[in-house]
Amino acid sequence: MSYPQRVKIVEVGPRDGLQNEKQVVPTELKIELIDRLAAAGVPVIEATSFVSPKWVPQMGDNSAVLAGIHRQPGVTYTALTPNLQGFDGAVVAKADEVAIFGAASEAFSQKNINCSIAESLKRFEPVVSAASALEIPVRGYVSCVVGCPYEGAVAPEKVAQVAKTLYEMGCYEVSLGDTVGVGNPDSIRRMLDACARVVPLAKLAGHYHDTYGMAIANVHASLEMGLAVFDASVAGLGGCPYAKGASGNVATEDVVYLLHGLGIATGIDLAKLAAVGDWISSAINRPNGAKAGRAICLNSA
Ligand code: HMG
Ligand code: MG
Repeated sequence: MSYPQRVKIVEVGPRDGLQNEKQVVPTELKIELIDRLAAAGVPVIEATSFVSPKWVPQMGDNSAVLAGIHRQPGVTYTALTPNLQGFDGAVVAKADEVAIFGAASEAFSQKNINCSIAESLKRFEPVVSAASALEIPVRGYVSCVVGCPYEGAVAPEKVAQVAKTLYEMGCYEVSLGDTVGVGNPDSIRRMLDACARVVPLAKLAGHYHDTYGMAIANVHASLEMGLAVFDASVAGLGGCPYAKGASGNVATEDVVYLLHGLGIATGIDLAKLAAVGDWISSAINRPNGAKAGRAICLNSA
């Protein structure tokens, strides 16, 4: 067991978090959230997604969000792009990086992006080629890496197969999504182990939703295996519109509290981040889902 010395946090709150809010969050608020996250030292921010507004109306202001932010040097602003149409939109809006997103479960793939796993992988190829021509890095996601809301348990080998295809296609990093948050340290370890056999561990990321309260334990188990990139959502915002009952990602504040406590660097100012979590929770009138965030704010009040 050896922890990494430094971990990269990919903040997904503005996308994975806000895509799931019942009310559409005003564009100005999204812009302010992204700017405040950057000011707290978050190195990568998934700002929005270029998906169909009929499917996810909450992200319909994608271009306006990217046009409105005050870009900070050293911060990477990324966007989800399920197909070439989305990719073209992201390029015009000047996303620094894009992400394609597939799944390890057929049923989830159909519900989320309206095609089979094989079709999705075919659809991603031109996106990766177009991005490569423009030197835009592409990240890959695999959803349902432990369980699927429609199919139940998902085999680690199936996850590894999709992760390998995305990596070999040209994704510089593959983020492993426990979309429904059903994983525990044991199932996460088995899944990571299978993926690390076919994709270098340094190219993998953990994306753990917290539905069953296991996400921080899963981050810790992954750290022990040497994983050094984690997606997280400020204040634990969010869920997934196509995974009923799934709660938000692990809260960024909780992950940063864990990492700093273990002596692992992130470059993030935790006090500032906690204040962002507190602010956005009250701005959209929801409870702050970050335990460390709440404690820090209470103690500094
Ligand atoms: P489709 O209906 O099969 O697409 O949807 P289509 O190509 O047949 O086109 C139908 C219509 O959609 C056309 O418009 C297109 O122009 C439009 P119409 O002629 O009917 O007016 N269209 C688009 N519009 C804007 N941007 C686009 C786009 N593409 C087509 N990019 C599609 C297929 C993939 C577009 C749809 O299923 C979709 O948008 N799905 C996105 C679902 C989504 O965003 N889910 C949440 C994100 S994934 C997630 O949260 C998981 C993750 O966090 C990891 C984890 O937790 O596991 C990443
Ligand atoms: Mg997610």
